[in-house]
Amino acid sequence: MTRHKLIIIVGSTREGRFGPVVGSWIAEQARDHGGFDVNVMDLAAVDIPLSLPAAPPKFAGDSYPRPVGMQPLTRALGEADALMMVTPEYNHSFPASLKAAIDWHFDQWVAKPVGFVSYGGAGGGRHAVLHLQNVLTELHAVPLPDGVAFPKYFSSWEDGQPSEPDAAGQAKLLLDQLAWWAGVLGPAREHDRFPG
Ligand SMILES: Cc1cc2nc3c(=O)[nH]c(=O)nc-3n(C[C@H](O)[C@H](O)[C@H](O)COP(=O)(O)O)c2cc1C
Repeated sequence: MTRHKLIIIVGSTREGRFGPVVGSWIAEQARDHGGFDVNVMDLAAVDIPLSLPAAPPKFAGDSYPRPVGMQPLTRALGEADALMMVTPEYNHSFPASLKAAIDWHFDQWVAKPVGFVSYGGAGGGRHAVLHLQNVLTELHAVPLPDGVAFPKYFSSWEDGQPSEPDAAGQAKLLLDQLAWWAGVLGPAREHDRFPG
């Protein structure tokens, strides 16, 4: 089986955040899946200023002036065959850290499949995912509809594992879908530059 490069993005950077727990769990699922080389990018370890350069990254290409501390993220996104975003829900959307990471890039998202693992209160972070799907569509990414969501995560995780018995099965399906899309879109990107 071809192993695709999967970047798992831990989107929250808040002090005392839960994000890395969810990120580690989905990384473990992805390694067990066997279809991916897995790289976890924790946005808390990346320099992502809120202030952007003058020109949008869409028009600057490789010459876009990014901070040195953003290079590992930019390189990882550029090499990725598939992406997985781990997001909480902040005020019915996704965190500003994730939005900034998205806005600093353009080509890196184009024609790449993106899956979502979300967590939060009663809604399990689904409002955040709906907003991410909307934003990523603008970047010509391919956001997947079947995510893994953890409602009331504070009472449904123990020792780094979710108590929801279906969680691993849902993750497997999502990873299967990511692998399928990566297998289709990778050769398509190589064959021809995406128009637009
Ligand atoms: C600024 C802020 C806004 C929040 N808004 C929501 C919300 O709209 N819906 C929800 O389910 N949880 C909300 N929460 C609770 C988060 O889901 C919870 O704090 C979660 O742990 C955040 O992820 P993190 O620990 O990785 O930062 C909010 C938390 C913060 C800090």
